[in-house]
Amino acid sequence: MRVRGMALQLTIIGMLVAAATAAPEFPIAKPGCRDRCGNVSIPYPFGTDSGCYYDAGFLITCNDSFNPPKAFLTTRKLHIEQYIAKDCYNAFGRTRRITPRLKLAKFIISDADNIFVSIGCDTVASLSGYLKEAGSNETQYKVGCMSSCNTLKYVPNDTCSGIGCCQTSLAKGVDDFSITVTSQTDHSGILDFSPCSYAFIIEEKKFNFSQSSLLDLQKVTKLPMVVDWSIGNNSCAEVKTNTSACQGNSTCYDPDNGNGYLCRCLDGYRGNPYLPNGCLDIDECTDATVNHNCTHICTNSPGDYTCSCPKGYHGDGRKNSEGCNRRQSLVIQIVVGKFVYHLLHFQSW
Ligand SMILES: *[C@@H]1O[C@H](CO)[C@@H](O)[C@H](O)[C@H]1NC(C)=O
Ligand SMILES: *[C@@H]1O[C@H](CO)[C@@H](O)[C@H](O)[C@H]1NC(C)=O
Ligand SMILES: *[C@@H]1O[C@H](CO)[C@@H](O)[C@H](O)[C@H]1NC(C)=O
Ligand SMILES: *[C@@H]1O[C@H](CO)[C@@H](O)[C@H](O)[C@H]1NC(C)=O
Ligand SMILES: *[C@@H]1O[C@H](CO)[C@@H](O)[C@H](O)[C@H]1NC(C)=O
Ligand SMILES: *[C@@H]1O[C@H](CO)[C@@H](O)[C@H](O)[C@H]1NC(C)=O
Ligand SMILES: *[C@@H]1O[C@H](CO)[C@@H](O)[C@H](O)[C@H]1NC(C)=O
Ligand SMILES: *[C@@H]1O[C@H](CO)[C@@H](O)[C@H](O)[C@H]1NC(C)=O
Ligand SMILES: *[C@@H]1O[C@H](CO)[C@@H](O)[C@H](O)[C@H]1NC(C)=O
Repeated sequence: MRVRGMALQLTIIGMLVAAATAAPEFPIAKPGCRDRCGNVSIPYPFGTDSGCYYDAGFLITCNDSFNPPKAFLTTRKLHIEQYIAKDCYNAFGRTRRITPRLKLAKFIISDADNIFVSIGCDTVASLSGYLKEAGSNETQYKVGCMSSCNTLKYVPNDTCSGIGCCQTSLAKGVDDFSITVTSQTDHSGILDFSPCSYAFIIEEKKFNFSQSSLLDLQKVTKLPMVVDWSIGNNSCAEVKTNTSACQGNSTCYDPDNGNGYLCRCLDGYRGNPYLPNGCLDIDECTDATVNHNCTHICTNSPGDYTCSCPKGYHGDGRKNSEGCNRRQSLVIQIVVGKFVYHLLHFQSW
C-alpha cells in the first residue's frame, strides 16, 4: 500500500486548533476565507479555497460530514493517522502483508513526538527514511528492530521492553519513509498468540503495549503520528531581507526540525502571525486569560502593561513586590531657639 502526498490532504480533513480558541476578534484566516470546517478551526497558512492558503501543501479539503475529526493542528504540529505495516500468517503461510510509505513534502515527521515501534514474536522490522537537509540532496537512513519469543510468559504488560515489542527513536528531518516488516520462520509454533508482525511510527504519548497487542493490532489499520510544518525552504536568516517573511507584531524563528521558517506573535500580542495585521495587542488589564499583577491601577500599553498606585500611595503596584502603601508622614519638630520647624518627611521604600 502506498500512501502519498495526495492521501495526506484527505487525512487532514478535520483539524482542531488548540491555539485558535482565542477571542473571536483575533482573525485566524485571510479575509473572506472560511476559517472552520465543522468544529475544526483552519488557520492561515492552511486554507480550503484558492487564495486562502499559503501554497498547495497547505490546502485542506473540508468535509463537514467527517466525524469525529481524525486529525488536529496545534501551534506547529499536525496530527495525522498513518497505516500500520503488517505481515500476517496462518498454518498455510502468509495471509496478509502491508508495507506503507508516506511522502510528506511540506511536512517533517516530528522526532520529538514520535517513536518507531515493532511488535511480534517473530519480527524483523525496518524503517527507511529520507532526511531533508538544507542545501543538499535528500539522504537515506535506515533503522531496524527485531524481536523473537516462543512463549507469552516473558512478554510484559505495560512496557515495550524488547520481548515481543521493540522501539527506537527517530532522526530529525524525515519527510519520506517506508516501513517493512517480515518474519524469519513464518510465526510457526507461535501462531496462537502472535500470528502477525506489526511496525509503525506512533506519537509516543499515545502508545501502549501489552500482551494483548500481539492479537488486537490485527483489527487496527491506522495509528496517530505527529508532523511538524513550516513555511518555505529557507531559514529566517535567508528570508530576513524579505519583508513578507513574518508580519507586523510578530517575529521569525527557525524550526528545530526541518527547513523553512516559522512566525510567532511578539510577547504581549496574540493572533495568527502569518496574516497581515494578524497579531493584535493583548489588553492584559481586561483579558480574562491573563493574570496581570497589578494590585491597584493597571494601564495597558502596546505589547505590555504597567501597574501604578492611586494618589496618596507609594510603590510599584505589583503583587509579590512592593504593591501600594499609604504614604506615611513623619513630622519632626525641631525647636531651635524660639522657632519651630516642621519637617515633613515622606517615608521612602
Ligand atoms: C466526506 O466524508 C464522508 C465520510 O468519510 C464520505 O462518505 C464523503 O464522500 C465525503 N465527502 C466528500 C465531498 O469528500
Ligand atoms: C462539535 O462540537 C459539539 C459540541 O461540542 C459536539 O457535540 C460535536 O460532536 C462536535 N462535532 C465534531 C465533528 O467534532
Ligand atoms: C544532488 O543530486 C544531483 C543529481 O543526482 C547531483 O547532480 C548534484 O550534484 C547533487 N548535489 C549535492 C549537493 O549533492
Ligand atoms: C499480562 O496481562 C494478562 C491479562 O491481563 C495476564 O493474563 C498475564 O498474566 C499478564 N502477564 C504478565 C507477564 O504480567
Ligand atoms: C492503547 O490503548 C487504547 C485503549 O486502551 C487502544 O485503543 C489503543 O489501540 C492502544 N494503542 C496501541 C498502540 O496499542
Ligand atoms: C522547496 O524546495 C523544493 C525542492 O527542493 C521545491 O520543489 C519547492 O518548490 C520549494 N518550495 C518553496 C516554497 O520554495
Ligand atoms: C520574498 O517574498 C516574495 C513575495 O512573497 C517571494 O516571491 C520571494 O520568493 C521571497 N524571497 C525569498 C528569498 O524567500
Ligand atoms: C500591531 O498591534 C497593534 C495593536 O493591537 C495594531 O493596532 C497594529 O495594527 C498591529 N500591527 C500590525 C502590522 O499588525
Ligand atoms: C506576574 O508575576 C509572576 C511572578 O512574579 C510572573 O511569573 C508573571 O509572568 C506575571 N504576570 C504577568 C502577566 O506579567
